[in-house]
Amino acid sequence: MKKASSLSELGFDAGDASSGFFRPVSDSSSSAADGVVVTPSAHRRRLTKVSVIGAGNVGMAIAQTILTRDLADEIALVDALPDKLRGEMLDLQHAAAFLPRTRLVSDTDMSVTRGSDLAIVTAGARQIPGETRLNLLQRNVALFRKIVPALAEQSPDALLLVVSNPVDVLTYVAWKLSGFPASRVIGSGTNLDSSRFRFLLAEHLDVNAQDVQAYMVGEHGDSSVAVWSSVSVAGMPVLKSLQQSHSSFDEEALEGIRRAVVDSAYEVISLKGYTSWAIGYSVASLAASLLRDQRRIHPVSVLARGFHGIPDENDVFLSLPARLGRAGVQGVAEMELTEEEAKRLRRSAKTLWENCQLLGL
Ligand SMILES: NC(=O)c1ccc[n+]([C@@H]2O[C@H](COP(=O)([O-])OP(=O)(O)OC[C@H]3O[C@@H](n4cnc5c(N)ncnc54)[C@H](O)[C@@H]3O)[C@@H](O)[C@H]2O)c1
Repeated sequence: MKKASSLSELGFDAGDASSGFFRPVSDSSSSAADGVVVTPSAHRRRLTKVSVIGAGNVGMAIAQTILTRDLADEIALVDALPDKLRGEMLDLQHAAAFLPRTRLVSDTDMSVTRGSDLAIVTAGARQIPGETRLNLLQRNVALFRKIVPALAEQSPDALLLVVSNPVDVLTYVAWKLSGFPASRVIGSGTNLDSSRFRFLLAEHLDVNAQDVQAYMVGEHGDSSVAVWSSVSVAGMPVLKSLQQSHSSFDEEALEGIRRAVVDSAYEVISLKGYTSWAIGYSVASLAASLLRDQRRIHPVSVLARGFHGIPDENDVFLSLPARLGRAGVQGVAEMELTEEEAKRLRRSAKTLWENCQLLGL
């Protein structure tokens, strides 16, 4: 049975509850004598609203990180399971005394997301044992057909950030179904893979991962490309120094490290059933760059046609280092790749584009 969770649900009208505590100030320069007062709400700044679609492990890790980083004035949660959704909302609301003031709302209906500045989609069907990736993809496309047009209708000016997997193809799907310009449709892409890559290198070099400049680009998944040629610490190229200090730092070793980055997600899933904390921090960092207009560079899934020899007619989304701000993607860094890295990126793009074409959107 649904229990009341607020005083108004218990029958106490919120109405003028705060007027017993607070009296509006008079505007002395104008006409206090005329009885004109400036009400506290008269000059309210525009509030920032973030919606998270899918209140599962990933959606809730993202919501709680956004909450603790104080990035939104209102967070709307949407899920298809009403009890779980309400439980998650109440659990977060009960932390109110320890957090910045953020209004939390939830509903199974997309109307709760109305007026969002940023909408983050984490809803997704899970792979059934024995199911092909393509079949899973088609089920997720069916889900996106329900979610994305409704989201776009409620918040036509929002930034759309896709996290559900396979994230690159689903970002393409979200772009198609939303009708938004490509600059406002972003996939979380390899932002997380790059963090895993930086962590491994930082551990090896005994430095802070924030001081390791290293990018994984391409697909978030098996065909991702580790851009070894541009890895640096304190402006110093890392690959050359590692090759000098370890005679075994050959092509095979580099591929082994890339593979370890890709496999680390599978390892976490096999150990705890899902990944959540790192993707929560990763997406919150994207939300901060977007909402606070930070112009930070993140490897995220963007419309990549024309970059590094990807054909102009392939509307493929994959990760490249992009400058993010309040308007969304504000340009993609034309990073220098070796011929081998560019070849791998084009291969990644080809596979992803073949998947997109199968969807007939
Ligand atoms: N891009 C990345 O780096 C990355 C990292 C981790 C996970 N993921 C992906 O994120 C997605 C979510 O993972 P999870 O572990 O949270 O899964 P989960 O099963 O815990 O959560 C998914 C949620 O979506 C909800 N949902 C299903 N249909 C819905 C609908 N029509 N409307 C609203 N909600 C609906 C489900 O009820 C569930 O609560 C998966 O696709 C996963 O692969 C991506």
